[in-house]
Amino acid sequence: MGYISVAIDGPSGAGKSTVARAAAAQLGFTYVDTGAMYRAIGLAVRRRGIDGADADAIAALLPSITVGLAYQDGVQHVLLDGEDVSDAIRTPEIAHYASMVSAVPAVRQFLLDTQRGMAKKDNILMDGRDIGTVILPDAPVKIFLTASAEKRAERRYLELVEKGQQVTREGVLHDVVARDRQDMTRQTAPLKQAEDAVLLDTSDMTLEESIGAVLRIIREKTEGLQHEG
Ligand code: DC
Repeated sequence: MGYISVAIDGPSGAGKSTVARAAAAQLGFTYVDTGAMYRAIGLAVRRRGIDGADADAIAALLPSITVGLAYQDGVQHVLLDGEDVSDAIRTPEIAHYASMVSAVPAVRQFLLDTQRGMAKKDNILMDGRDIGTVILPDAPVKIFLTASAEKRAERRYLELVEKGQQVTREGVLHDVVARDRQDMTRQTAPLKQAEDAVLLDTSDMTLEESIGAVLRIIREKTEGLQHEG
């Protein structure tokens, strides 16, 4: 009997991680934030002073680092060489590095086995950019969660301000649009909706409505499937 995988993809700032985390908690599924793994590699690149555009140097770094996930009280922690970097990766600078490294094929290959392996061990709800298209093409539930660039930028802006970071609305919108372009136009595993994914546009939804909509889609698609764990 297999485990159930839910793939949630979409652009940055669509509220994916907040919605996915809440939905996973309600279902008792393990939440896997794959963006955090790209961010951890971005952080490693930044720390070593490697140019984010130098794909060869980034690929050469990979054999000397480890990226892993650990769960404490159901909360995901990201480990870079065993160090908990969960907070250090949540800055606009590291988001930028993450976007750069995520375009490097060797980086995607490096994370692929870990991500697929997690889906074999547990009922999971995995969020990212290529989960429904590349990582888990056979997932019984695929959701493409999006919202307008303006709404996404506004949400991210408020989130960053709450964390005490010095940002402007224009700056955040600019970053969101730039990151969308980079994520959608890269050669390897670009961000795109899987053919069999359900499109959910949360531009005019509250957080609670978005979580409710995701849970409804998951319940509809998994009715009759065996839950384990
Ligand atoms: O979701 P996030 O903002 O934490 O993701 C950080 C970067 O990693 C983002 O630019 C896209 C990239 N990413 C990816 O290419 N594939 C994934 N499955 C998850 C994230």
